[in-house]
Amino acid sequence: MCGIVGYLGTKPAAPVLLQGLKRLEYRGYDSAGIALLHRGALYAVKQKGKVGELERKIEEIEKGGATKRVGCAAAESRIGIGHTRWATHGAPSPQNAHPHLFGKFAIVHNGIIENFAALKESCLLRGEKFSSETDSEVIAHLLAQNDCGDLLQTLQKTAALLEGSFAIAVISLNAPDAIAVCRNKSPLIVGRGKEGLYAASDIPALASSADEIFPLSDGEFALLQGETIKFFDKTGEIDKKPLALSLRADLPNLCGFSHYMRKEMSEIPAAIASSLQKIEVDFRFSHFCEVLCQTEYLQIVACGTAYHSGIAAKYAVEALARIPVEVRVASEYRYCDPIVKKNTLAIAVSQSGETADTLAAAQLAKEKGAYLLAVTNAPYSSLTEIADFHLETGAGREIGVAATKSFNAQLAALYFLALSLAKAKGKAADFSALQTLPALSEEVLSDIEKIKQFAPVFAAAKSVYFIGRGADYCAALEGSLKLKEISYLPSEGYPAGELKHGTLALVEKGTPVVAIITQKKFAEKTMNAVCEVYARGGRVLLITSLAEYAARKEVEQSFLIPRCEELFSPILSVIPLQALAYYTALERGNDPDKPRNLAKSVTVE
Ligand code: M6R
Repeated sequence: MCGIVGYLGTKPAAPVLLQGLKRLEYRGYDSAGIALLHRGALYAVKQKGKVGELERKIEEIEKGGATKRVGCAAAESRIGIGHTRWATHGAPSPQNAHPHLFGKFAIVHNGIIENFAALKESCLLRGEKFSSETDSEVIAHLLAQNDCGDLLQTLQKTAALLEGSFAIAVISLNAPDAIAVCRNKSPLIVGRGKEGLYAASDIPALASSADEIFPLSDGEFALLQGETIKFFDKTGEIDKKPLALSLRADLPNLCGFSHYMRKEMSEIPAAIASSLQKIEVDFRFSHFCEVLCQTEYLQIVACGTAYHSGIAAKYAVEALARIPVEVRVASEYRYCDPIVKKNTLAIAVSQSGETADTLAAAQLAKEKGAYLLAVTNAPYSSLTEIADFHLETGAGREIGVAATKSFNAQLAALYFLALSLAKAKGKAADFSALQTLPALSEEVLSDIEKIKQFAPVFAAAKSVYFIGRGADYCAALEGSLKLKEISYLPSEGYPAGELKHGTLALVEKGTPVVAIITQKKFAEKTMNAVCEVYARGGRVLLITSLAEYAARKEVEQSFLIPRCEELFSPILSVIPLQALAYYTALERGNDPDKPRNLAKSVTVE
């Protein structure tokens, strides 16, 4: 995680860097900082907390006037680098905030330097002093040690010593008009615009300033100098073509909502509709249907919410296409020497396409002979680069750290895939069931404010449980993740039938339990668990499409959703669960868009 930016050009650098950092805040917001080069000196300003706090600090420094040299640099410097941090090594603090300065160098880093302890030890033996507890600071020390007067070569020599993942941007007193950058297993792009050259972790940071964007691949370097960008790999200078993307349409806007999470929930119907549309086109004009005909096994790798969409896909694919599906948490899959049989289709699901564990698991599946399909919400990402085929979901940009519309979009894509697999295997496949989902999700949203009334009970709870069977179990898992992520309440999602095997011991008088019942064949079975909860004094909120169960005496509160093809019901039942998490977080005074300790894109292990 962490977001990095760099700028050199004709405008004052500080506001450009701050704007870029704000758009990368989804990658972490524990601290932020910028370093500027001005009149032969390096200056850094760092602050614990969000980029807005750094901005206020810089404004205060500037108000101090030109008498303060740093104030002057903040107002006038045309070259700098910046960082927004998600803490890995060292607590969130101004000392551990990037950029790190040493000698003639200032650096920002996204990733983890795995051999930093040994490297730091050798620096300490040389008598060098460190001012932070981070792994990253060692990069600045190594640059100083390898300083050959040429910025690019110095970075190349330094990068050769590093193990782990890194996207690095460096400025140096040796080259007052240059920024050198490099990438290994952490995303990095550079851009060119009318007013300068840019580097950043992700496209949104450059969306309103760069006209051309060039992604770097692992092992590549770029030197931004004056008005030119040069690219290098281990063979020397290389040519690069800019991405064919429209860069201006994608700026964040709350559109009157108080939080991105709530706004993004309101976009669920459009996200589903647009995902189905895109995927239909992708299927129609590709060889992918032939791959499906040959597919005998499915392995799905993903993390967090995307993992839950994989579980929903398992229920749908196994029921419709009768193909065995293994769903694995990517961080487990990558280290467990997975068995990949002939004719396996591996599906890596990732909103961002940049999650480090998912990328590594996907790469491994491919190396072991699987055909690799990426399902992402990004037109370009590290995952799409390595995939054999890519399905882009149509959720549009998602800013809230808690995934909402991107989950519904993933489900739409994966259900389409399940039906396509069924068709390829000569089984019944009613695609029309998908076409009703945008309107049905709209119907759920039209009632969603009712969920607000339940928030006080949940906000006051010690812990919360979510239960369901089959596809409803997937919704339970996602509802629980959403709640814990933004309300900070301990919570578990459980298969309803499993409750009595241990977790029921935690249910006491007043414990809120959310039951999800949308599948007729499981309804009575899940109700057994509801009765067990009720008998112990638990308070049940039922999310159901089967109105008759809402009237049962064991159900204290209920929220009705419309009926749809039962296998696909998580796409609707998750919406009230997202809302429950949102209103509970607000009730507890939390910022649902930026939950503590988390970041949207997890590009480290
Ligand atoms: O970008 P990805 O879909 O690969 O991200 C995976 C998880 O980090 C992500 O879904 C996370 O669990 C969300 N914050 C949950 O709301």
